[in-house]
Amino acid sequence: MRINEDTLLEGKRVVLVPYNAEHVPRYHEWMASSELQKLTASEPLTLEQEYDMQRSWREDDDKCTFIILDKKRWADPLVQEQECMVGDVNIFLTDPSDPSLAELEIMIAEPGYRGKGLGKEVTHMMICYGVTKLGIRKFEAKIGMDNKISIAMFKKFHFNELSASEVFQEVTLELTVDETLRKQLQGDMSLIKEREYCKVRDSRHGASQPHTDTVNP
Ligand SMILES: CC(C)(COP(=O)(O)OP(=O)(O)OC[C@H]1O[C@@H](n2cnc3c(N)ncnc32)[C@H](O)[C@@H]1OP(=O)(O)O)[C@@H](O)C(=O)NCCC(=O)NCCS
Repeated sequence: MRINEDTLLEGKRVVLVPYNAEHVPRYHEWMASSELQKLTASEPLTLEQEYDMQRSWREDDDKCTFIILDKKRWADPLVQEQECMVGDVNIFLTDPSDPSLAELEIMIAEPGYRGKGLGKEVTHMMICYGVTKLGIRKFEAKIGMDNKISIAMFKKFHFNELSASEVFQEVTLELTVDETLRKQLQGDMSLIKEREYCKVRDSRHGASQPHTDTVNP
């Protein structure tokens, strides 16, 4: 989706930025992990296919994705953005006839960052963004039956079990956003700082360059 191509969302401990070509090598390294392939029901891709996938997430109108950065590391302009990456979060519009229905996916890819509240923070931010900016009114999450942590997390957001597939060993949870919840999420969204990604990235790049003296000797 192009709607978020210049959007940076700043939370308490994370920063969400659009998924760019510079993020692909690290993303590709993550997805070589058989554990992550299983937890996210993903197939391994070649680096070339991963670049194609990144382009498709950027250009297709039914997909919206952000890369999750560790805000503390990112606050230091000397640390490259790619070195701050901890995971990704996606919204996928699954029904062309109903743009208010979306599948929500999240991955805290770096194992050392799991279990510290980042998953919850990012899920909340993405639900807020989806509802207020994309007009989503129903979220679904498809999760492997063995992935107790993810199931527990989505249930904390009041997702209910819609169906379970023994064949795919997967449960589908759903959250319907009624008017009360929509207003609450709209209020929460106003607490999330939204900035222009390209400007922020350029100013970080500028700050990371060695100081050059402009005055002639
Ligand atoms: C699932 C995932 C997104 C959760 O994010 P996280 O940052 O690790 O989780 P959080 O620390 O925010 O905790 C969220 C909730 O998950 C559950 N949880 C987290 N760690 C847990 C653990 N070790 N054991 C049991 N439950 C756990 C709890 O319900 C927790 O809520 P609480 O802290 O209020 O009790 C993350 O672990 C992950 O990406 N794992 C690998 C990929 C994956 O499974 N993606 C989901 C595919 S659908």
